[in-house]
Amino acid sequence: MGTKFLSLATLALSASSVSWNATPFNPPSVPLAVRTPYLSVWLPQGAGTALNGAWPQFWTGSTLGWAGYIRVDGATYTFLGDPAVPGAKSAVQKSLEFTSMQSIFVMTAGPVDINVNFLSPVEPTDFLKQSIPFSYLALSAVSNDGRSHTVSVYTDISAEWVSGDDSLTVNWTTTTGNILTHQVMLENQELYAEYNDHIQQGAAYYSTQNSSSVTYQTGQDAIVRAQFIKNGVLANIEDINFRAVNNDWPVFAFAHDLGTVSTTASVPVIYTVGHVRDPAIQYIVANDVYQPRSIYFWSAYSSVADLISDFVGDYSAALGRAQAFDLKVQSDASAISSNYAAVVALSVRQAFGALEITLSKKSDGSWNADDILIFLKEISSDGNVNTVDVMMPAWPILLYTNPPLGRYLLLGLLEYQATGQYPNAWAAHDLGKSYPNATGHNAGNDEAMPLEECGNMLIMVLSYTQKSYDMSLITQYTDLLNQWTGYIVAEALIPANQISTDDFAGALANQTNLAINGVIGIQAMSTISGILGDTVNQQNYSSIVQRYVPQLLDYATSSDGLHLTLNYGHEDSWGLSYNLYADKLLGTNVFPESVYDMQTAWYATVINTYGVPLDTRHTYTKSDWELWTAAIMTNTTTRDLFIDSVYKYAADGESNKPLGDWYDTLDGTVHGFRARPVVGGHLALLAL
Ligand SMILES: *[C@@H]1O[C@H](CO)[C@@H](O)[C@H](O)[C@H]1NC(C)=O
Ligand SMILES: *[C@@H]1O[C@H](CO)[C@@H](O)[C@H](O)[C@H]1NC(C)=O
Ligand SMILES: *[C@@H]1O[C@H](CO)[C@@H](O)[C@H](O)[C@H]1NC(C)=O
Ligand SMILES: *[C@@H]1O[C@H](CO)[C@@H](O)[C@H](O)[C@H]1NC(C)=O
Ligand SMILES: *[C@@H]1O[C@H](CO)[C@@H](O)[C@H](O)[C@H]1NC(C)=O
Ligand SMILES: *[C@@H]1O[C@H](CO)[C@@H](O)[C@H](O)[C@H]1NC(C)=O
Repeated sequence: MGTKFLSLATLALSASSVSWNATPFNPPSVPLAVRTPYLSVWLPQGAGTALNGAWPQFWTGSTLGWAGYIRVDGATYTFLGDPAVPGAKSAVQKSLEFTSMQSIFVMTAGPVDINVNFLSPVEPTDFLKQSIPFSYLALSAVSNDGRSHTVSVYTDISAEWVSGDDSLTVNWTTTTGNILTHQVMLENQELYAEYNDHIQQGAAYYSTQNSSSVTYQTGQDAIVRAQFIKNGVLANIEDINFRAVNNDWPVFAFAHDLGTVSTTASVPVIYTVGHVRDPAIQYIVANDVYQPRSIYFWSAYSSVADLISDFVGDYSAALGRAQAFDLKVQSDASAISSNYAAVVALSVRQAFGALEITLSKKSDGSWNADDILIFLKEISSDGNVNTVDVMMPAWPILLYTNPPLGRYLLLGLLEYQATGQYPNAWAAHDLGKSYPNATGHNAGNDEAMPLEECGNMLIMVLSYTQKSYDMSLITQYTDLLNQWTGYIVAEALIPANQISTDDFAGALANQTNLAINGVIGIQAMSTISGILGDTVNQQNYSSIVQRYVPQLLDYATSSDGLHLTLNYGHEDSWGLSYNLYADKLLGTNVFPESVYDMQTAWYATVINTYGVPLDTRHTYTKSDWELWTAAIMTNTTTRDLFIDSVYKYAADGESNKPLGDWYDTLDGTVHGFRARPVVGGHLALLAL
């Protein structure tokens, strides 16, 4: 109890260090438009940065120009970005609130407040909507002094949204009609290529609904912005001098005249922003053929203009769905604790923002509606495609929101390995070294994590099957699953010197956690065999597990019986035995309750200010594994110690990068990772 009160007091302090109201807290970086690996826009925070105190950034930290002004009775205020064009004052941030899908700022511009809502939809059960690589910005103004005021609003984006190299040439067009859209793209398109993690293909789109009160303009940043600051309207002209992103910085702007604004909030003005490329992914099929794949939404739209028109028109409904989803997540997670609900809300967009849902075409050019595959980019640690040991920590969010998402994420790996092109006896680490190239590893030289990935695949396949009552994966890929089980049977009890998912911690022989993962994997295959009616394998695998478990516990329990060791025979070593989570998730009950009680009691004695270290080699930890571990604690006080320490880290104001899962337990500083989908593992308690 004492520890908990202390940490809450510290939190109250850090929360009050920003001058605005932050609900539930001021995060390391605020998600603004986060939907895909290439539409990933954030506002860096550190100790606290107002919406108009810095430029928005791509997840890597590179600038993405996105500017906003509001003009009130002839005086112009900046509310978004850091454009520094003379003649505008700065609005003052009043509040920031984030939910699972929305980041909502209120900025005071003299006598008017502007409500700025960034909505990045998460649509787990609607693949068409989930696949749309667009996000909303909604602006609404209200008088704060009881009087009426004349108000207009302005926003623009720069060409930084389409390239990782600002010296490259872009071109652009503006289309008019019911919807006004600026399109900007690289003049030299490079299929499937990335510079600094930006895709060098496709186009960015900035749109708004037309009315008689809308104006537009494209041109040099300082000129277009000055036009609005001075006049409150744009000139409806296009600059057609195509040039480099950083050559007199072309920007793409819209302004809305809101007329007279009173103490009733104005009807929101909607902007949408997105990035579209086609084809999106190349994927290896049989005979080393690379298949081009398109984002799922193309099966319902023949043009980006039609897609944008529907997306703009869907705003009110999308907001309604977002509010319902936000409320459900908030209420489910609050049943654990309010700190837990806060961490979960920050994790949802980040996890979904690494995914893309795709389809292939038949030879006649029509869509192959049954051939859905979901791809995941291993953001920031490296650019691997569908990394198994990144899917695994993220897995709880897929189970919680819609298990078929997991099916289509696994399917690409299963199909590829069933072609026989992957040469190793164990499960592949990933589907391709560099997103968006899901081109496999026919040379078998992917990062070797043999035990980790075999166990992970078996566990994910069974958990999908259990949650969905769909036997298709286990029926179709039985041979592959048996092959991987055979590998684990031979290797898991005495794990060879190898890395686990925590590869940054280095290789180690006899890792207890890998043996645990393997044994649960074998039991998973026993259960799968039982579902398939294969009683021979069912009994064989479970009798092996029964033999292994006492041996494993004998090797891995410290002689004082207080904890499992990190690796066999190293008495004083220990680590987060997060792999036990799968035993609860699958209901396999391989390990006795006494092991959970032992680990629960132990962690309460070794927790640092910001959590329990990953293992005894270092003081750092992983937030995803901490919350997996929290989910298996048999004592809710200790469970809450884990949750509160992750909250404390996330809210400590030390980082200005999209939430990193790898951080130090002594001082709360973040290590190299950021924006990774593994934060889906923060929902571990909701998936049980
Ligand atoms: C926007 O709509 C108005 C009518 O409401 C029309 O007069 C105007 O031409 C349209 N603007 C553009 C740029 O299409
Ligand atoms: C912009 O560049 C692309 C790619 O080279 C080209 O297809 C397109 O026609 C260009 N658009 C304009 C308006 O010049
Ligand atoms: C993907 O492969 C293509 C060749 O097919 C290559 O041009 C591109 O650079 C690769 N992308 C990445 C991110 O490595
Ligand atoms: C049990 O499974 C292991 C691993 O696949 C295999 O080596 C062994 O032959 C099997 N035993 C029986 C009786 O099926
Ligand atoms: C791994 O553990 C087994 C069982 O305790 C032991 O025989 C073996 O020497 C250990 N291997 C290493 C490399 O420490
Ligand atoms: C739960 O753990 C806390 C320490 O974190 C301890 O004080 C408390 O007695 C434990 N409760 C039970 C029921 O074991």
